[in-house]
Amino acid sequence: MNESDSERYAGQLEELGYTPTEDPELADVILMNTCCVRETAEDKVLGKIGEFKHLKTRNKDLILAVTGCMAQEWQDRLFKRAPHLDLVIGTHNIHKLIDLIKDKEGQKESHMLATEMEDNIFHAVPTKRFQKFFAWVPIMNGCNKFCTYCIVPYVRGREVSRPLEEIIEEIRNLAKEGYKEITLLGQNVNSYGLDFKDGTDFSALLYAIEDIDGIERVRYMTSHPKDMTFTMIDAIAQCKKVVSHIHLPVQSGSTELLKRMNRGYTTEHYEELVSYIREKMPQAVLTTDIIVGFPGETEAMFQETLDLLRRVRYDMAYTFIYSPRTGTPAATMDNQIPQDEKSRRLKRLADVQNEISLAYNVEMEGKDYEVIVEGPTKNDENHWFGRTRGNKMIIWENDGTSAVGDTIRVHVDKGQTWVLKGHVLKREEDCGRRNEVNAHDEAVSGSQGDMCR
Ligand code: 5AD
Ligand code: SF4
Repeated sequence: MNESDSERYAGQLEELGYTPTEDPELADVILMNTCCVRETAEDKVLGKIGEFKHLKTRNKDLILAVTGCMAQEWQDRLFKRAPHLDLVIGTHNIHKLIDLIKDKEGQKESHMLATEMEDNIFHAVPTKRFQKFFAWVPIMNGCNKFCTYCIVPYVRGREVSRPLEEIIEEIRNLAKEGYKEITLLGQNVNSYGLDFKDGTDFSALLYAIEDIDGIERVRYMTSHPKDMTFTMIDAIAQCKKVVSHIHLPVQSGSTELLKRMNRGYTTEHYEELVSYIREKMPQAVLTTDIIVGFPGETEAMFQETLDLLRRVRYDMAYTFIYSPRTGTPAATMDNQIPQDEKSRRLKRLADVQNEISLAYNVEMEGKDYEVIVEGPTKNDENHWFGRTRGNKMIIWENDGTSAVGDTIRVHVDKGQTWVLKGHVLKREEDCGRRNEVNAHDEAVSGSQGDMCR
């Protein structure tokens, strides 16, 4: 969501005539778009704000802005903390950047604050997409769930869905511009449309996108187990463009802890959803989020999380150490877990998950996958990468036969914990092997040409 917001800030800056630079020393505007979901994210931003202070003495016209969740949370306290800041812009005020910068250039005020919450936040603003074939598409904003550890509902406000026609229009335009893969964004995509109270829901949106030519893959995040219905799983299974990667944050394997987190489901219900997903999409790639060290998490409760991990067998888990957020109920709960114990649990969790991730990736060895080429890896120009429909990253030595954005076939030679290594299939080789691809073609074919997974 933050990346998508950044694209809307960048678009507005471009509209004003600013061009990007990698070098802060050369910048006339520095905009820090922030997250505050965990304290570490906040600390990083505070460090950066301090780091940029000296630039103001060298360039007195430099505009320093803080935007996003942390701006919304801190409001004008940020000016007290860092008087050298110029703009603080909250999560509902993205569209005001152009006017605020113009005012600032005219030196209207020294500190400008724009953090009021609005009902309609989906304003059309110039957007500079950072990628050429993949696009973020916000479908809703805010969250009504109030999980007791989470600051998001306080900084993003209540759930507001974006009109379906507007979303479809944007995706149609993206398809015309050559975008192949879109990711629908929302804090809780499964409750999309419920605020319209006219029967529109997430499934209806998926079916509507299915008809748009040119789009090959539809991703979405994030799902909430309480609002994900069996009918939605049917829709995901039926829509051929919707990938079978399902990110379904469980947070904990203890029903008692889930209750204290105010998650609104039991582990039994969660596992029923997983069984249904596996039944409808046997090759679905399942990932999750887990928090360790939530207040009152006993060793037995933590063991329940490890057991759940072993039963569900996720392809990957994003794991987080519980971080108390001021203003959330969990921050003042009894039995906060000491930091060193939280770190130990995180390590134990990672050990269990890594073994499972590795096993899945080793299983992919010897099979062929459809990949959209993303380009060179960060550290090595000669190695390129792309992702499968299941969102697995494959790296190969670039042989010059494919370009960024191409949809190609890659043969997996080696599965590792986080990544797969492979080689691009030459077209003749590819044709010889290719089989009729099913809707969620994880493995396109095996090395003997048979269908796998
Ligand atoms: N501490 C640790 N992790 C958190 N998350 C959200 N709030 C906190 C917190 N206070 C995690 C959840 C969520 C993911 C985006 O961040 O697992 O799913
Ligand atoms: Fe935070 Fe819970 Fe909303 Fe996710 S569903 S954004 S964890 S409050």
